[in-house]
Formats: sequence, structure tokens, C-alpha cells
Amino acid sequence: MANVYFPRRNCAPASAEILLIVFVTLVVPVRAQKFGGIALTPPMGWNSWNKFGPNINEQMIREMADAMISSGMKAAGYEFINIDDTWEGYRDSLGFIHPDSARFPHGLRALADYMHSRGLKIGIYSDAGDKTCAGRPGSRGHEYQDALTYAKWGIDYLKYDWCNTDGLNPVGAYTTMRDALYSAGRPIVFSICEWGNANPWLWAGSIGNLWRTTGDISANFDHNIDHGTWVQLSVMSILDLQNGLREYAGPGRWNDPDMLEVGNGMSGSEDRAHFSMWCMLAAPLIAGNDLREMAPETKAILENSDAIAVDQDSLGIEGFRYSSADSVEVWFKPLTKGDWAMCLLNRSVKAKRVSFNFADETVSDSLSHRDTDFGKTTYALLDIWTGKDLGNTNEPLDAEIPGHDVLMLRLVKE
Ligand code: GLA
Repeated sequence: MANVYFPRRNCAPASAEILLIVFVTLVVPVRAQKFGGIALTPPMGWNSWNKFGPNINEQMIREMADAMISSGMKAAGYEFINIDDTWEGYRDSLGFIHPDSARFPHGLRALADYMHSRGLKIGIYSDAGDKTCAGRPGSRGHEYQDALTYAKWGIDYLKYDWCNTDGLNPVGAYTTMRDALYSAGRPIVFSICEWGNANPWLWAGSIGNLWRTTGDISANFDHNIDHGTWVQLSVMSILDLQNGLREYAGPGRWNDPDMLEVGNGMSGSEDRAHFSMWCMLAAPLIAGNDLREMAPETKAILENSDAIAVDQDSLGIEGFRYSSADSVEVWFKPLTKGDWAMCLLNRSVKAKRVSFNFADETVSDSLSHRDTDFGKTTYALLDIWTGKDLGNTNEPLDAEIPGHDVLMLRLVKE
């Protein structure tokens, strides 16, 4: 039947061509929008970039998927295996993108099938400009074709970068890709990676599911790395740059302070503090380490179910800094069922003795319209990192926090 619609030609139309025609005639008229009902809690998964940069291939991506399952990461809630930059090969004469065949000889469809058959999901990466940050083909001018291709392959998540975009307006460029993804018909988590340059929190909520708020992270607790033309940020710098952004996040639309560096070289304390603060921020939890060879401490951090529960809480409200004194910050995050998460972050290298007398404090949050009301309500204190019961809020909390570490608690309403 399909041939009826084609002019006479001496070869059968490529299946990609048929798809494009069906798409333009039948699908484009649908009014494009953002997919609803996805990423209702911050996405959890793994991405290749932080640890491997451009050194990726299908074998290691499969191994990472296997490791996600065997290490317990999948059971802990991680589901996406995201391939970052350098999977791209070339565009064919019709403009369709093909993976780098030396690195991905079996193609992306086969890799997607591999993930799906194991109960995982697959993400890829592109860029709004002509070229990606690593110089591979970008999606500019090919957005609808690329979205169709991703849908055909079975892709579940797209990280869309902002290199080589001279003359492009970010709202327009990201809206074009949003509409293209919607028109292609497969719900795909849309991760906006514009580094916070054009204040995406102000406009990205109706376009994407998460948006980077800053430049790239590094596995450094509080020292930025200056590369000359760009600066790679420390975990603490990124944390500070989240100030004032919490009101823009919520189910389906998250501030993204970048992927995790847990297991990539910081100390155990620093990794724990980094992970805890990302959970307090309701940040996407995208691991960036080698899942095939995780130290037990790294695994214990990434898979801590009580910390993950703080991140994934269905209220979807980011935490906030309540106080800061002598290098110790106290953060609170409202949770479902009247609970709260509380995190005391020691930014100093030296251990700090802290005392927090709940009776003297009133924690109120104008965003969630919640307050702790410690005078009338008692909360049990669960130490999220040791699993210990630390009494309740009727007694002052006294603790010593090692340098670059946290005390993270769940306040369980009694
Ligand atoms: C940018 C992004 C990174 C990574 C690289 C890939 O720097 O911010 O997260 O995707 O590009 O080239």
C-alpha cells in the first residue's frame, strides 16, 4: 500500500523515508507540548561522561547495565543508562543520524533492546548546535528527524547540550526539540543542558523535565578547576549556585545541579556530603562512576535507601538552608506525612561540635506552607547514614561532625 504514495522510482523507499512522510502528514498537526506524567520524582540513573568522557563503546555500556543490576543499584531505584557525547557517527544523505559504528557496531536499537529486556531504560545525548561539545554532529536543523530516530530506536531520555549554538535563542531551540520529541510520540525524559546561562528555571518548566543550573561539576569538594576558557565547578560551588531556585522545581520539572561525582576520587566524607546535599536538593541522581568496580563505601552511599527516599519524596519540594554558622550549615526539606529531612553540613576540613536545641527553633517554609512546630510536635530522629535512632526532638541534638561531612537525619513525626 505504501508504494502507492510514492512517485515511480527504481528502488523501494527507505523505511526512514516512509516514516518521515507518515510523520509529516499525520503527526505534525498534533499540537506539540511537553510529555506529561514523566519524571514525577527526580530521574535516577547513570551517565558515561563524568568518569569516561569520550572513551565509550557499546561493550562497556552493556557492562554498566549489567553492573547496575548486579551491584544493587537498580534495586535501589536507578533505572537510566545514559550515553553521553561521542556516540554520534555521521548523517546520511537524507540527514538521518547514525551512531559511530566503530564504537557501537550493533547500533542503538540493539542497545535499547538490551536495556529494556533487563528492566532498564536508555538515554542518549545531543546538542542544539551544529556540533556537540565533543565536535560530533549536533541536532540543529535536524530536530524532528533526530526525535523520530530516537523514538524508533526506543530511547527513553535525551540530554540536550548547548555547545556551538551561536545565534540560537535557548527558549526557541529547546522548544523546537520538545515539540519534535512530542510529535515523535514516544515519551522521552527531556534533560536541558544549557548550564544555567539564560536562567532556564524561569522558562524550562514547560519545556523539559530537568535543566542544568550551572556549568560542569568536578570531583572536588570546594576547589574549582580553571581550564582557561572554562571553569569546572566544585560540589560546594554548585551547591551555593542553587540559592533561590527551589521555587521553580517540582514533580516533572527539576533543577539539575549536574551528575554525581560519588566514587570518582573525593574522600568518603566528601562523597557522603555531596550525595546528601543532592538528596536535600531533590536533584536528579545520575551516578557518574564506574559501576563495575565500586568500593563498598561508594556503593553504601549511592544505595542508601533512606537518603534516596529524601530525594525521591513525592512532595517534590527542594530543601533550603535554614542557618549557617562557623562553617556548619543546617538544611531542612519537607517530606510527605509531615516528616522532615534535616542535614547538618560541615564545610570546614576540621571536625565541628554542633548543638541544635529544637525547643529554641522554629523552622517554617513559605514554599510548602509547613512548619516544624517543635513546641507541639515531637519527631523521632533517624540518623540516615548510621541507621541509628538518635532519640527525639524533645531533647537538644549534640553531635560532632567530621570535616567535609554531614549529619543527615529524618525527622519522623510521632
Ligand atoms: C558539556 C556538558 C557535559 C557533557 C559534555 C559532553 O560540557 O555540560 O555534561 O555532556 O558537554 O561533551
